Amino acid sequence: MRLDIFTLFPEAFDWFQQQRPVRNAIAAGSELRLFSYRDSTPLGAGQVDDAPYGGGAGMVLRVDVVDAALQAAYPDAARPRVVLLAPGGKLLDDELATELALEPGLALLCGRYEGFDQRVHEHLADDEVSIGRYVLAGGELAAMVVADAVFRKLPGALGHADSAVEESFSEALEGAPEYPHYTRPPSYMGWEVPEILLSGDHARVHAWRLEQSRERARRLR
Ligand code: ADE
Repeated sequence: MRLDIFTLFPEAFDWFQQQRPVRNAIAAGSELRLFSYRDSTPLGAGQVDDAPYGGGAGMVLRVDVVDAALQAAYPDAARPRVVLLAPGGKLLDDELATELALEPGLALLCGRYEGFDQRVHEHLADDEVSIGRYVLAGGELAAMVVADAVFRKLPGALGHADSAVEESFSEALEGAPEYPHYTRPPSYMGWEVPEILLSGDHARVHAWRLEQSRERARRLR
C-alpha cells in the first residue's frame, strides 16, 4: 500500500509517522507520503484558498490548487483511489477500513477552512469519508484516523500475526466488539479474573470469548 496524504499541515503527521504499526508496515514495504498543497500551488505567494462566490464566512480550498497537487504527485495520469475527508461522507467502519487497506494506493485529501470547492468533490475525489457526524477544524485528524485504521491492517503492522484478525468488528468476531481481556494478577482488591480464563481449556475459552463478544454486540443495539 502506498498511502498519500494531501494537507496544508504535513507537520501535523509527525507524531503519527512515529507510531509502531506505521513504522512496521513501512518496514514491511508499505509507503506513507505527505504532500502540502502549498508546495505545488499554481498561485503566487503560496495561496491555496479563496473567498466563496456568493459571499459568506470563511475561505474555500481551490479546485486548481488541489488538482495541481494531484498532478504533481501523479504526473503519469494513473491516480490511486482518491478519498476526500468530509463530515458528510460515508461513515468509516471496519468494513470500509478493510476495503481501503486492499487498495494498492490511496490518496487522502484533507480540507481546512470552509472545506473544498464543490468541483473537488465532484471531479477529483472518488469517495468521501467521514469519521463521524461532527465538524473538525480540518481533515488532518480524520485522515490520521483513517490511516491508523488502514495501516494496522497491512502486512507486518502489528507484532502478532493474528492481532488484526480477531479484533473488534472483524469477521472472526461476527462483526461484534472484541471480548474482554485480563492479565495478572488473577485477583486484585477482590476483583476476580473469570475462572474459565485460568482453566487452560482452549475450546471453552474460545466459546466464552465469542459469547462475550455477542453480548457486547447486543448491548450496542
Ligand atoms: N473534516 C472535518 N470534519 C470531519 C469529519 N468529521 N470527518 C472527516 N473529515 C472531516
